Amino acid sequence: MGSASMLAKRVLLTETPVMVEIQKLFRLYPDCVSLAQGVVYWKPPKEALEKVQQLIWEPSVSCYGADEGLPELREALINKLHDENKLKKSSVMVTAGANQAFVNIVLTLCDADDSVVMFAPYYFNSYMSFQMTGVTKILVGPGDPDTLHPDADWLEKTLQKTIPTPKLVTVVNPGNPSGTYIPAPLLQRISDICKRAGCWLVIDNTYEYFMYDGRKHVCIEGDHIVNIFSFSKAYGMMGWRVGYIAYPSEVKGFADELLKVQDNIPICAAIISQQLALHSLKMGPKWVTDQVQSLVSNREVLKDALSPLGNDAIKGGEGAIYLWAKLPDKYQDDFEVVRWLARKHGVVLIPGISSGCRGYVRISFGGLHEEQCREASGRLKKGLQQLVSEGMVP
Ligand SMILES: Cc1ncc(COP(=O)(O)O)c(C=O)c1O
Repeated sequence: MGSASMLAKRVLLTETPVMVEIQKLFRLYPDCVSLAQGVVYWKPPKEALEKVQQLIWEPSVSCYGADEGLPELREALINKLHDENKLKKSSVMVTAGANQAFVNIVLTLCDADDSVVMFAPYYFNSYMSFQMTGVTKILVGPGDPDTLHPDADWLEKTLQKTIPTPKLVTVVNPGNPSGTYIPAPLLQRISDICKRAGCWLVIDNTYEYFMYDGRKHVCIEGDHIVNIFSFSKAYGMMGWRVGYIAYPSEVKGFADELLKVQDNIPICAAIISQQLALHSLKMGPKWVTDQVQSLVSNREVLKDALSPLGNDAIKGGEGAIYLWAKLPDKYQDDFEVVRWLARKHGVVLIPGISSGCRGYVRISFGGLHEEQCREASGRLKKGLQQLVSEGMVP
C-alpha cells in the first residue's frame, strides 16, 4: 500500500495544473509581478459585501441549501439569462464556480470511452476535467492562424468521420487563453454542425462581459447546448466560488442526472457566496462593464510590451482578459522562456504548452491596477527585447 502505483490512473495521467507550476515560480522569485493568473483586480460591489456582512448571522447561511441553488438566486439568474443573454428555455443550476460547472457537465454527459472535441489553444482546466474523469479521447482541433477562431470546416469533417460520433464539443467565448471572440455566425455554424451530428455543445461564457471595442457578446440556445457562466471575474468574486449552468429545460432527465453529480460534489454552492452573488447581480450589468472598460489601458500597455515579438505575433485581446503571443520560432520550449523571464526580468506569464500550443505565451491584463500594469509591462518589454536581440542570457 501507499505507493504511487495505488493512485488512480485517471489522475496520474492528468496534466499537472499550470497554476501549481507557476506558484512554484513565485516562491522561487518572490519579487516577480504576475501577468499570469486569470484574475481581476477589483473586489465585489461594496453594497453587496455590506449586505452579506449582515446576513452572516442568519441561521440559514450555516445550513445546507437546495442542491440546485437558492431559489431567489435562481430566479434572478433566469431573469438575467432571459433579458441579457436571450436564453429563454434554459434551466439553472448554481455551482461552486464555472470549473465545477464544467466537471458537473462532463460527469453528466460523458462516459469514459467517449471522445470529445476542443480547439487549440484550449482552456487547460477543461482539458484536465476530461482527463480526470477518464475521458481521454480528446480531439484537439485547430484554430485559424490569424483569428484563432475554431476551425468549423475541420469540426464538420471530424464529426462526420469519427465513429462513434464525439459526445461533446466545447468552446470558450470569449476565449481563454486566446482572448478572441467567436462571432455569432461562426458560433451558430458550430452549433448547427453539432446538432446535425448529434453531439452536445458546451459554451463557457465566463468572460461574457469582457468585450472591448464595441463588440457585443451573444449566447445561443438549443436542446443540444449547455451554457456555463461565472461570477468570479465579473464581480471580483474569485474566492467566493459561484458559477452556474444554463441547460436545456426540454431535455428529459437532464435536471435529475445533473442533481446526482451536484449532490456528490458540493451538495450546494456556499450559501453566503450565493447571497453575495444575488446582491451583486442587483447592481446590474453596467457595474461590471464599467470595471471591465478600465482594462483597456492595461491591454494597450501590454500590447506595446509585446511589440519586440513583432505585431503579427500578437493576437487576442478582443475579449476576456488575455493576449496571446507567439515567441520567435527557435523558442519552442515556452516554459523555459517563462522561467527565464521570471528569474531574469521579474515577470510571470503562462506558457502556451499548457493550452496545447508550444512556442506561445498567455498574458493576462486583468489582475493589476494600471500603475502596477505599467511596471509589469516595462519588465516584460525589456525581457522580450533581450530575448529577441541576445537570447536567454543567464
Ligand atoms: C474560461 C474559464 N472558465 C472557467 C474558469 C473558472 O472560473 P470559476 O472561478 O468560476 O471556477 C476560468 C477561470 O480562469 C476561465 O478562464
